[in-house]
Amino acid sequence: MLRVPVVKCICASFFVLWLIIAVSFEVQLQEVTESGNRSFTIDYDNNQFLKDGQPFRYVSGSIHYFRVLAADWPDRLKKLRMAGFNAVQTVVEWSTHEPEPGNYLFTENQDLENFIMTAQEQDLYVILRVGPYICAERDMGGLPYWLLKLHPNIRLRTSDPAFLNHVDAWMGVLLPRIRPLLYENGGPVIMVQVENEYGSSGLFQCDYQYTSHLRQLFRHHLGSSLVLFTVDNPSGNNLRCGKIPEVYATVDFGLDKDPGQQFEQQRLFEPRGPLVNSEFYPGWIDHWGEPHHTTQPEALVKGLDAILALNASVNMYMFHGGTSFGLTSGSNVGSKFQSCPTSYDYDAPVSEAGDPTDKYPLLREVIGKYLPLPHGPLPPTSPKGDYGKVALNAVGSLKALVSLLPSVTAFWPQTFEELGVTSGLVIYSTTVPMRMPDPARLALNDLHDRAYVLVNGKLAGTLAREGDMSDLPIYTPRHATLDLVVESQGRVSIGRHLNDFKGLTTNVTLNGHVLMHWQMTALPLTDTSHLHTVISRLPQVILHSLTGTPRGGLTMYSGMFNITDEDPHPLDTFLKLDGWGKGIAWVNDFCLGRYWPDVGPQVTLYVPGAVMHRGDNTLLLLELERAPCDHPDSCFVTLQNHHQINGPTPPEF
Ligand SMILES: *[C@@H]1O[C@H](CO)[C@@H](O)[C@H](O)[C@H]1NC(C)=O
Ligand SMILES: *[C@@H]1O[C@H](CO)[C@@H](O)[C@H](O)[C@H]1NC(C)=O
Ligand SMILES: *[C@@H]1O[C@H](CO)[C@@H](O)[C@H](O)[C@H]1NC(C)=O
Ligand SMILES: *[C@@H]1O[C@H](CO)[C@@H](O)[C@H](O)[C@H]1NC(C)=O
Repeated sequence: MLRVPVVKCICASFFVLWLIIAVSFEVQLQEVTESGNRSFTIDYDNNQFLKDGQPFRYVSGSIHYFRVLAADWPDRLKKLRMAGFNAVQTVVEWSTHEPEPGNYLFTENQDLENFIMTAQEQDLYVILRVGPYICAERDMGGLPYWLLKLHPNIRLRTSDPAFLNHVDAWMGVLLPRIRPLLYENGGPVIMVQVENEYGSSGLFQCDYQYTSHLRQLFRHHLGSSLVLFTVDNPSGNNLRCGKIPEVYATVDFGLDKDPGQQFEQQRLFEPRGPLVNSEFYPGWIDHWGEPHHTTQPEALVKGLDAILALNASVNMYMFHGGTSFGLTSGSNVGSKFQSCPTSYDYDAPVSEAGDPTDKYPLLREVIGKYLPLPHGPLPPTSPKGDYGKVALNAVGSLKALVSLLPSVTAFWPQTFEELGVTSGLVIYSTTVPMRMPDPARLALNDLHDRAYVLVNGKLAGTLAREGDMSDLPIYTPRHATLDLVVESQGRVSIGRHLNDFKGLTTNVTLNGHVLMHWQMTALPLTDTSHLHTVISRLPQVILHSLTGTPRGGLTMYSGMFNITDEDPHPLDTFLKLDGWGKGIAWVNDFCLGRYWPDVGPQVTLYVPGAVMHRGDNTLLLLELERAPCDHPDSCFVTLQNHHQINGPTPPEF
């Protein structure tokens, strides 16, 4: 531990001891002279940050660029600045940028550099949390699924070479893009986080070799003078495990904690330097089937005031939560498996649809006690579209779709990962080879996560990891066809269940007999243009019934809605799905995400104006359970002007 304070002293006196240090640290000197005198450092003597040699503190807010459309970045960042915050914090998601190995995406909604530069235009500093693991209630905590495909026994978040080699390659692509955007190089990025809450990784052994490797990797790509930091929840042994030598340790805590006591924990590991709460929560994570979480604005403001009164820097997680569009939201395993809804509203000061809430002006007021506030009018709420009913028609059953798609056959069921499927649905089909008792017990052990069981095309029941239901009695005549429609509800985002293979992860048995000879078909749900092509070919194969089940489940529905010329441009709106069960919705080519209104708490889906256009727009649903389509007049959804994310949920069990 002796080495650490020595290094800190050198940093602290950097500008005072300019020449002395220049002799021993030639590399650092070069960087400073190249970029003038822009600097961002830690002043250990005075427990503060220094920006250009002057005392500095930040009040930042989290906005995840991948949870907001690029078209809305300027608006949301401006709202952050106008609330008095002086920095934005975002995690960087590996799976967003490298969905398949070596296939790098950095344009449009994935244009991270554009997001960072937009923040700079709005007079905000940027704090990056580049992982590689980020948690953030994302599928696999932001790690790409293909790590599991390439290395089924990979030890994620450790120094396992199988993991580190891919981390090195990814950081070799990402970090050189960040370097020109660092503060010292003229950009807005003042700090970069290493890993994320590593102390509570749930791993049995704390792998310091891994975390030091990351530090060296970051130093190599980002230089020696950047402030690197870690974040840990200051309970148990988290900080002991999460602290990396020569990386500044910060903590995170919410309203239920006393800031003074929490910062004492930080002080055990950073005896000097600025106090920092890297995640101060205005709300909390939601799960399907669990009541929506909220906090009182007054309590939030009081909590923030208490932190700021200690001269601490703070990040509000989230300032604007946004939406886990597509199939990107993750799940958690605590006492039971729980999946996260599409909305990531977080009861934040700016709502999912980008509007200031009651918290917004109160926060601005309290921040104004400590930082200069920007001038100008406060942002108003934006008008929302009330586009009304959209009539839908069944366009074909899942079974019909499957007949148009390539499939894989194997003796034993394969996981999504083995099949190269990142998310969505895989249909597993086989034939029951022998005579069976009536009923026979079908067992899908370690089902990940939910399965609709069809015998000879008829729904026999539903099994679900939520609720630990993995077997059911079925009647199967000899040679019966068994179809299992298996849904991934999002990979586990935190803890020791991170290697969360999806689909049928073990053999399927019927009264103890292992079923063999499986045919497996993945739906191209994340490839919308492919999906549209397949749907357009459906009329060729539909022979008898359009729908998959008598109640209209396991069926695709589509409809059109018209945004008229009178509208200045399409407004944000909300998709209400009364009478529908559970499924996935698209507008035009954009996947809005999963819906499940009966289970709640999320009832409506946010539809950003930017995914629509004047004239005709298409709406597509994949409904898994039931549709209100007994009569054509009742077969519709509604685009309304208000959101509902606090709907009723089933009683606790
Ligand atoms: C940066 O350097 C310039 C030129 O030497 C000087 O005028 C300016 O005050 C310096 N800025 C800070 C913040 O030290
Ligand atoms: C906060 O900083 C100010 C100015 O340096 C100082 O006077 C005050 O004592 C500090 N407050 C706390 C709680 O450390
Ligand atoms: C499935 O059963 C076969 C035959 O018993 C066995 O070889 C195979 O390893 C099993 N697969 C899994 C994932 O348990
Ligand atoms: C949609 O609106 C446009 C412009 O108002 C009109 O030209 C078009 O015919 C409408 N389409 C439908 C299907 O109503």
